[in-house]
Amino acid sequence: MSKLIVGNWKMNPASVKEAVALARASDAKNVVVCPPFVFLEGIGKILKKADLGAQDVFWEEKGAYTGEISPAMLKNSGVKYVIVGHSERRQWLGETDEMVGKKCAAALHALITPILCVGEPLAVRKKGTARVLRYVRRQLAAAARHIPKNFRKTIVVAYEPIWAIGTGVPCDAYEAERMVRACAAYLAIKEKFRDVIGLYGGSVNARNAKSYLDAEYIDGLLVGGASVKADEFRGIIAASQG
Ligand code: PGA
Repeated sequence: MSKLIVGNWKMNPASVKEAVALARASDAKNVVVCPPFVFLEGIGKILKKADLGAQDVFWEEKGAYTGEISPAMLKNSGVKYVIVGHSERRQWLGETDEMVGKKCAAALHALITPILCVGEPLAVRKKGTARVLRYVRRQLAAAARHIPKNFRKTIVVAYEPIWAIGTGVPCDAYEAERMVRACAAYLAIKEKFRDVIGLYGGSVNARNAKSYLDAEYIDGLLVGGASVKADEFRGIIAASQG
């Protein structure tokens, strides 16, 4: 099965010109490019092979919600995937499991595939693997509670341990595979999602990408910092296709 590579640009780059150059370098099959909202429309026109993704979505359809972006706006801009519940939004924007679940439901309702992010902080990891599993399963269950049963079709789940995000300290491939598999199995078996795609994210780069991509139960990667460095991201794409 071909693996999915998702580039999460976060709050980068600063100009349209840089965004266009980066999009051109990232345009390949089985790639999802997630630029900031302001660049979505323009980059949608540039991508020929890659799919367009967004970094967030609001759960209401329309109305007086200053600053928010609706699922229909994303859909009408050509967005196929949306990242939901990234740990940076949970940490800096106060996103709760309930908000994350409602966002997933709204995306699914609009026929956009959510990329649901979960992962434990270092303090939990230090308590051992049983605690890590419990923590992550609780995040998944708490989000799923807000997703109606009839919306439970395709979902992407990204296991992203917080201690590995942007730190240069990735989770090793064996443990990443174990966790990705556990997350995907939980959503498929316990929560009855029909089709679950499991990603790993956290300090992935062109050098270590292959170790994850070789793992049977890792269906792809969610890449942050390395996705805004054209050469590095090309290296990751090459590893996924070679
Ligand atoms: P990173 O970020 O690749 O920079 O560690 C991953 C993410 O936040 O999705």
